Amino acid sequence: MTIVRFPAPIDPHVHLREPGYPHKEDIASGTAAALAGGFIVVLDMPNTRPPTDTPERLQDKIDRARRSAHCDIGFFLGATNDRRPETVVIAAKQAIGLKIYVNDTFGSLRIDNLELLNEYIKQWPGPGPIVTHAEGLMLAAVLALSHYHRQPVHIAHVSRGAEIKLIRKAKESGTPVTCEVTPHHLFLTQNDLTTLGQRGEVRPRLATPEDQTTLWEHMAWIDSFASDHAPHTIAEKDSNNPPPGFPGLETTLPLLLTAVQEKRLTIEQLIARIHTNPRHIFHLPEITDSYTEVELGGEWRLGEEPFFTRAGWSPFSGFLVRGRVRRTVIRGKVAFADKTIKVPPGFGEVLFPQSNSC
Ligand code: NCD
Ligand code: ZN
Repeated sequence: MTIVRFPAPIDPHVHLREPGYPHKEDIASGTAAALAGGFIVVLDMPNTRPPTDTPERLQDKIDRARRSAHCDIGFFLGATNDRRPETVVIAAKQAIGLKIYVNDTFGSLRIDNLELLNEYIKQWPGPGPIVTHAEGLMLAAVLALSHYHRQPVHIAHVSRGAEIKLIRKAKESGTPVTCEVTPHHLFLTQNDLTTLGQRGEVRPRLATPEDQTTLWEHMAWIDSFASDHAPHTIAEKDSNNPPPGFPGLETTLPLLLTAVQEKRLTIEQLIARIHTNPRHIFHLPEITDSYTEVELGGEWRLGEEPFFTRAGWSPFSGFLVRGRVRRTVIRGKVAFADKTIKVPPGFGEVLFPQSNSC
């Protein structure tokens, strides 16, 4: 068994559901799940209820996190059809980035108007990037606007071979684009729907084995991993109208560590994609004396120990994994050890993008 120390792991795509859906998750339970999963920083998405689409709603989330976050956290603003970009971008310095949904998913946020999409991409002042949910043909539209306006855009949860190939072309032609891939698109395919059934609903949908192979083959063009932790209860997933999304904070590192053990990924590639690159993309400050200790080797099954996420389930339950989070240390203080959260709510700090970092 080998112990490896990772510099402050960052999950740049989580849905902590506060405010609006406390039965699925809230900032306290979601940041506890993050620590148990080995993450020291999480970046929270704006599709809450209400959505984070005004400076006041962003400030409300910041205030809530200062009372209840166990680990460090940053918040995205969300672009919406209902507001002009000018009313949103004034809070850019308080947000870790701007999330633009151009495809349908859980929640009410979506831009379906080219003029507005163009204005948001043109006007966003940074320093954080624009993050888009842009699948299929919409990806081409977003890449073109990023290129045209020289605006850094980070593509969330890339799932298809054709998409990662287009991102590669865009990078090679100088478009300021970065991207992330989720563990569920790296370790599950649509073949798993036979066992997952409607619990396998997720956006982007699980793809083909060929798509999955192409993602692995393009690891050099994948900047970051992201759980897209999207907790819904098992009752909701089994209902007549199952919402899309999987919890992922506590399964991401064990799965990626297993890929390291299987020599599909190197430790250096993993550290780049859970720390160095996301820190750079999101202009995050350095968090000193903060690291996660993992154990490589041994074998255990995901789901055999209870999850901290309020969702309480995982599409990976039963998967045999060969890596485990032992200890999470933030600013010199042990935050998670012995399967227990060691820091109180409010210990986590709210992070803002640094204008001069990297
Ligand atoms: C996410 C959710 O539930 O908030 N669902 C999902 O399937 N990924 C929304 C999203 O990230 O698109
Ligand atoms: Zn998401």
